Amino acid sequence: MKGKILVTGGTGYIGSHTVVELQNAGYTVVVIDNLSNSTTDSIDGIERITGIRPEFIELDCNDLEGLRKLFQKHSDIKGIIHFAASKAVGESVQKPLLYYRNNLNSLINLLDLMPEFGTENIVFSSSCTVYGEPDQNPIDETAPIKPAESPYGNTKQINEEIIRDTVRSGSPIKSIILRYFNPVGAHPTAEIGELPNGVPQNLVPFITQTAIGIREQLSVFGNDYDTPDGSCIRDFINVVDLAKAHVIAIDRMLGNKSEDKVEIFNLGTGKGVSVLELINVFEKVSGTKLNYKIVGRREGDIEKIWADPKHANTVLGWTAKENIEDTMASAWKWQLRLREKGIM
Ligand code: WQD
Repeated sequence: MKGKILVTGGTGYIGSHTVVELQNAGYTVVVIDNLSNSTTDSIDGIERITGIRPEFIELDCNDLEGLRKLFQKHSDIKGIIHFAASKAVGESVQKPLLYYRNNLNSLINLLDLMPEFGTENIVFSSSCTVYGEPDQNPIDETAPIKPAESPYGNTKQINEEIIRDTVRSGSPIKSIILRYFNPVGAHPTAEIGELPNGVPQNLVPFITQTAIGIREQLSVFGNDYDTPDGSCIRDFINVVDLAKAHVIAIDRMLGNKSEDKVEIFNLGTGKGVSVLELINVFEKVSGTKLNYKIVGRREGDIEKIWADPKHANTVLGWTAKENIEDTMASAWKWQLRLREKGIM
């Protein structure tokens, strides 16, 4: 086996897809999660896909002593992929202290313990939200970091600074920071996918839940933006493509392939798709007419943002492969599976 990787938040949406790809690549994976926004159904799904059930420990990364015990039990962790965080933009505006406490303390605890147990590599789950409203698109890693539009976005900016300052202090830690654009879709087997608690904040699960009848109607937050059809533009990236980039990042660090102790990569397709265009794609691939209405803008929304993924393409040798039609079809297949299983 290629060594042991700790995945925090590994029962969540992106985490579970990344565990699948890590196991497919021959890594041994230990998953920790506090199950605040996911269930262990995803562990079952990972096992059905890969034939390997990763070790799962229910643990909150804010629990320093609990984390210490984990590292004592697994003293051979070669790398960490840190997903565990609160991530709803709107909720972060309502509950900023919850977001600062959770998202900052959990990272600080990990960085504190890593050198004690000889773990030097951490991949950090960041977000394009750190850029705020770009001056121009596509946006690359050299773009200025603007004041965050939400406490959630601010925690991601501060997390990146914590990592940089820790490395700069002479710590043996190395890090690759991955800035995701908009992760969407589900594993092609429909064994795992996005399963937000309660009313979805994000667009795609709201689309699929509306199409299947769980939600009455989708509200499109504004069509008066300075875009071709007036709706916001995003870079919707397939979650499996995104997961594969994490394996490449871990390979890169364990293989000591870089002189730089902190590297940053934008993970996107490089294509902008508007909200209304995405709805049209969904209607085409699902064969259903979506019930939606245009309403006012949502506070804090970015008008348009899409990636320049050249740095990840050339340095990581990674490119997003899945097209938006197949990606939206995978989201719909997942929603239909949830209905079949009586989960939703
Ligand atoms: C996308 C577009 C909405 C819901 C955030 C975080 C990012 C990442 C993904 C965690 C926007 C519109 C949405 C709806 C709508 N988070 N929309 N009706 O805000 O781009 O990104 O979530 O990994 O870090 O910043 O994603 O899916 O909420 O919104 O019209 O019911 O869809 O206005 O234009 P967002 P989103």
